[in-house]
Amino acid sequence: FRILLLNGPNLNLLGQREPGIYGQDSLNDIVDRLTQQAHKAGVTLSHLQSNAEHQLIDAIHQAYGQQDFIIINPAAFTHTSVAIRDALLGVNIPFIEVHLSNVHAREPFRQHSYLADKAVGVISGLGAHGYEFALEAAARQLRHPSS
Ligand code: DQA
Repeated sequence: FRILLLNGPNLNLLGQREPGIYGQDSLNDIVDRLTQQAHKAGVTLSHLQSNAEHQLIDAIHQAYGQQDFIIINPAAFTHTSVAIRDALLGVNIPFIEVHLSNVHAREPFRQHSYLADKAVGVISGLGAHGYEFALEAAARQLRHPSS
């Protein structure tokens, strides 16, 4: 199976960016660990981080027919982007939404997501481990579609 990991704006700054909220790991640390986990699970992981909404949308479009599942931390676009929602619905690829922080314990504007009601699931507040749980859940769902 093929899983696409997408990370939105400012996540390239992980490690230096508000470490009390987002943790000490860099995005490279997280992606390296996830790539190893994917290898062990027998799935292929591709990754894109972008600060540009259109690049994330283009990556979602290109995933059509190429990827079986998307794990996405849309970062601030979570709370603003009808376009990313529409792209995900347009390609009809199941996705899990991940946030490092617990968005429900933060500012009110972070508590609405334009994606969450269409996601297979949402993981928020478990730090970098959230990506690992998402990968495990995605691999399990791909192997056992009914469960
Ligand atoms: C985030 C939460 C968003 O509200 C914020 O804009 C981010 C990161 C998270 O991973 O906790 O950039 O998606």
